[in-house]
Amino acid sequence: MSSEIGLIGLGTMGSALALNIAEKGFDIAVWNRTAQVTQDFHAEAGELAPRITPTETLGDFVAALATPRAIILMVPAGEIVDAQIAALRPLLDANDLIIDAGNANFHDTNRRMRDAFGPFLGVGVSGGEEGARHGPSIMGGGKREDWDRVAHILEAISAKYEGTPCATWMGEEGAGHFVKAVHNGIEYADMQMIAETYGVLRDGMGYEAPAVGKVFDRWNEGPLRSYLVEISGKVAGTTDPATGGPLLDVIVDAAGQKGTGRWTVIEAQHLAAPIPAIEAAVVARNLSSRRDTRASGEALFGAAPKAMAKGTVSEDALEQALICGKILCYAQGFIMISAASEAFGWKLPLPDIARVWREGCIIRSDMLNDMADALTDNPAQNLMFAPYFADQLTQTHDALRQVVAQAALHGIAAPALGSGLAYFDAMRTARGTANMIQGQRDFFGLHGFARLDDGSTDQHGPWAG
Ligand code: 6PG
Repeated sequence: MSSEIGLIGLGTMGSALALNIAEKGFDIAVWNRTAQVTQDFHAEAGELAPRITPTETLGDFVAALATPRAIILMVPAGEIVDAQIAALRPLLDANDLIIDAGNANFHDTNRRMRDAFGPFLGVGVSGGEEGARHGPSIMGGGKREDWDRVAHILEAISAKYEGTPCATWMGEEGAGHFVKAVHNGIEYADMQMIAETYGVLRDGMGYEAPAVGKVFDRWNEGPLRSYLVEISGKVAGTTDPATGGPLLDVIVDAAGQKGTGRWTVIEAQHLAAPIPAIEAAVVARNLSSRRDTRASGEALFGAAPKAMAKGTVSEDALEQALICGKILCYAQGFIMISAASEAFGWKLPLPDIARVWREGCIIRSDMLNDMADALTDNPAQNLMFAPYFADQLTQTHDALRQVVAQAALHGIAAPALGSGLAYFDAMRTARGTANMIQGQRDFFGLHGFARLDDGSTDQHGPWAG
């Protein structure tokens, strides 16, 4: 019997996704570069095994699929995807569909869609292994008619928010992978802001890891309720079986990254879309990996004072600061999506993006439901101006200011929270300081400036000579 869908790449995410597809009642054929991996996967599939057809060669794999075929690629992003497409295409019919469900750079997806010699979708999948297995958030991109061919499968395997599938077609070309990259940029900023509040609790307030865990657990009961706060509580509260002490204390303070956050920042620069909290988070990861340099810096300049007098910052103020920072980082991500939508002519569905992130993905959070409502009312508006979030920011920005100021005074680096605050302040300053920049540009390069008093443009100062 032919399988309705095929999947190539039985790594962690591919295996989990294949089991999820089988569990939802779809017959699936699978293939992996190493045949043993395919056999082991099938052998361990238990009661789902009858729905799974393991195949040894690409030819067998293609032959096992019902036509027109639909094939999910779950292989590492980059050249491997191109190599896989090149190996697959000659075996396929013109109308067979390839779906790249890895974390591809959307520029690659745009190119592949042009060059793939057949239907191609670029689909962002979020939620880690657990999500892939039991319900990820899915962001599709490509031709709508191609999405419609597999939407019933992708919706069935996706996470559900109050019954609504978290799987949506975002737009043409690489729109799905673009939205996934911005998701990851927000993920970086959210994680970094949480890490910075951990820094204030640990270095400023002297909390041990289990106490930090309890604070995050408590925050997860309130407005900050989200997957990342939840797992941060769990991470901080976990005991290391080897030492009996907190596991967090023995984890090396150098963050890895696979590149999606960096792509978001690079793209934001191309779009001239300000996303400073996300940029700060990417920079912080880069900096974190320079451990030797940081140790040399501490030896040269001495450690910062760090410990705060009791009562300097309260847990409640930290919570408010994190709420404020989080709203600002999501606002930046969404407004960048809006800028891309216009620049690429994609008509990205902003409220649906917020909806698709409400369940299954790494940045799922209670706030996203309110963001979906706000973006439904006004999709083009920066979320910080939406009445509900403007009200939240009004209530919390003083706390963010206190936390950032006290962190600075005590030598605790808080770049994402700090840049969130600077963004907030810049965005509520009608008269900024770029008149000085324009004066400088005109002075050294006669670039011209506009005048405030009479509205004239392309003016020069008397230095023009
Ligand atoms: C997700 C995640 C995932 C990401 C990993 C690691 O949405 O499920 O964003 O796609 O690849 O979390 O990302 P970094 O290695 O860049 O931290």
